[in-house]
Amino acid sequence: MRVLGIESSCDETAAAVVEDGVRVLSDVVASQHEVHARYGGVVPELASRAHVVNVVPVLRAALERAGTPLEAIDGIAVTNAPGLVGALLVGLQTAKAIAWATGLPIVGVHHLEGHLSAIFLEPEPPPMPHLALIVSGGHTSLVRVNGHGEVLELGATRDDAAGEAFDKGAKLLGLGYPGGVVIDRLARTGDPKAVWFPKAMTSGATGHAMSFSGLKTALLHHVQQHGIPEGQGLADLCASYQAAIVEQLVRKTRRAARREGLQHVQICGGVAANSALRAALQKAGAEDDFRVYVPPPARCTDNAAMIAAAGHHRLARGERAGLELDAVPSAPLPRLA
Ligand SMILES: Nc1ncnc2c1ncn2[C@@H]1O[C@H](COP(=O)(O)OP(=O)(O)OP(=O)(O)O)[C@@H](O)[C@H]1O
Ligand SMILES: [Mg+2]
Repeated sequence: MRVLGIESSCDETAAAVVEDGVRVLSDVVASQHEVHARYGGVVPELASRAHVVNVVPVLRAALERAGTPLEAIDGIAVTNAPGLVGALLVGLQTAKAIAWATGLPIVGVHHLEGHLSAIFLEPEPPPMPHLALIVSGGHTSLVRVNGHGEVLELGATRDDAAGEAFDKGAKLLGLGYPGGVVIDRLARTGDPKAVWFPKAMTSGATGHAMSFSGLKTALLHHVQQHGIPEGQGLADLCASYQAAIVEQLVRKTRRAARREGLQHVQICGGVAANSALRAALQKAGAEDDFRVYVPPPARCTDNAAMIAAAGHHRLARGERAGLELDAVPSAPLPRLA
């Protein structure tokens, strides 16, 4: 079964063709980072307009690179929740138009179900059940994955997402958008112990919950008192800030793996591309005896191959959406009964 995936929930316009839920025949992503960089974050209306311009060329490129004409596609999977509503609508309406014109079956995919599916495009995916740490621009949660689309959220951030902490931190330091990649790069030559940052949610009573907004405020106070450093000082500050984010994510993941008795842990979402997080979690896994699975960096950030992979399982189960399928800006991760 060849599934055409379409993703437009935030600032990437993406289309991909995936065969049998595991083989990527094409994976095209048009990023809008240049459009939003000067504003230090995604401007929703500009995102929608850029999606309108990009969606058809991206779709054509995906079909062409896959060597698969529309006639050889068996179903369409499109992100319909959550995300910026205007951005979501562009991919969704395009998908529905194709479904209407061709009669192809279509399913809506929750964006986070997509992130959770990226790892199944790798040669050695984690077995079920496993633990997943979803760390992206808008979400941070720990999820027990019992099967494809069968998830149970164990805990989540109470305020900002980890990606937001990276992006807002970078904005505060004048490093541009998206900030995660820049902080990651600068932190490589910095000392993570140079600047003290508060460690949030350390009490056992906080369970699987996380928090990153206090950290952002601590960085603001540091900058208000000491200014923005340059050179080695900036590298040290980035390394220390990043270490505080990573420390909390790793501590909570370890704890959840232990409590749930799970020996396989995947990380997904844009922040899973972070080199310090990847290394720290691998180290924790070696100590606590769980195996860590991480998609390649380009499949951590938004792409349509992961949406096609998630949609594959829904289509294979016989799920079909009607043309009334709508964009939902805010929606919890769906749980299969
Ligand atoms: N190397 C990195 N280190 C840390 N953060 C990173 C890195 N690369 C990307 N990010 C962060 O990942 C986020 C983007 O991830 P993603 O594309 O999954 O988010 P999103 O789709 O906007 O949000 P969501 O998936 O929650 O809807 C941004 O916050 C970005 O700063
Ligand atoms: Mg995402």
